[in-house]
Amino acid sequence: MNETKAEMILKIRDLKLFFDGDYGTTQILNGISFDVKKGETLGIVGESGCGKSMTAMCIMRLLKSPPARIEGSIEFCGKDLLLFSKKEMQNVRGNEISMIFQDPMTSLNPVFTVGNQLEEVFMLHQGMSRQEARKQTVEALRMVNIPMPEKRVKDYPHQMSGGMRQRVMIAMALACQPKLLIADEPTTALDVTIQAQVLDLMRNLRDELGTSILFITHDLGVVSEMCERAIVFYCGEIMEEGPVSELFSNPKHPYTEGLLSALPRIGQRKDKLYVIPGMVPPAGQFPTGCVFVERCKYAKERCHAEKPDMVRLDEKHTVKCFRYQD
Ligand SMILES: Nc1ncnc2c1ncn2[C@@H]1O[C@H](COP(=O)(O)OP(=O)(O)OP(=O)(O)O)[C@@H](O)[C@H]1O
Ligand SMILES: [Mg+2]
Repeated sequence: MNETKAEMILKIRDLKLFFDGDYGTTQILNGISFDVKKGETLGIVGESGCGKSMTAMCIMRLLKSPPARIEGSIEFCGKDLLLFSKKEMQNVRGNEISMIFQDPMTSLNPVFTVGNQLEEVFMLHQGMSRQEARKQTVEALRMVNIPMPEKRVKDYPHQMSGGMRQRVMIAMALACQPKLLIADEPTTALDVTIQAQVLDLMRNLRDELGTSILFITHDLGVVSEMCERAIVFYCGEIMEEGPVSELFSNPKHPYTEGLLSALPRIGQRKDKLYVIPGMVPPAGQFPTGCVFVERCKYAKERCHAEKPDMVRLDEKHTVKCFRYQD
């Protein structure tokens, strides 16, 4: 299939997010544009505080407005979610877009068994009877590799390990057979062995069900395992976008370069680990020119004064840096 003609599930254009507070307005996102194609896993990477989760919250329309103010467009299967009513949005959230959060305890209800909670999803979103839903729940738990699912349906969330809870969350997110799954740091809280199992599971489910995934993480290793394409976020803007293989072997943005140099490698001594100098500025204090200017070893006067445009290097690779402009 010609990739450029692949069906678009999500098309975000010039997304801006502001929080209006008593002490003025803080801009969190500034002109985010990207696409997710059918069946693909797109990675969003970047350091803490760069706006990854807020982008997901905009798509899900889970931010309270006011104080949150969103501009731009978020087209999902051809319709702008920003124009949807609360009720239409509820329908989308339950049936077409699911989200997995970093901490499963925030999404699982501690006073109901995991079985009960999954049954509810099947009854509500697939119109099943209680009996059908009960059967389907055991199947769903089996699908995410929960051992002895007939027994575990009676567990309360706190009776399960972190990895198991995260797998229940995945089962729940997939129960409505969404077109798009947003996974926000789904494995960050898990140890590496369990993380590998959960990632494996997500890959299998994606291949089996053809779900498109927006995979948010600050872990470049996870991105290289999960995603074909990725976008690099910094201070509420996209710095670079391209195929993962290319971003890793041939990063163009100084920030992407920095992120990669900061990756620990086997055989490397800990005290030699590179860190990008400086820190992510807090929201509301982003530089007016290039947002990376204060940490960039290539920064020139122009970078302080003006914002670079997104430059297209080839069909799939774009970068926002003056070094490639003009
Ligand atoms: N209600 C709010 N009012 C003002 N600023 C907010 C609010 N919620 C979040 N922010 C700010 O928005 C920015 C982006 O936050 P976001 O949670 O999207 O970061 P992130 O990239 O997901 O980071 P992490 O990797 O730590 O999860 C941060 O600077 C954060 O402080
Ligand atoms: Mg986050």
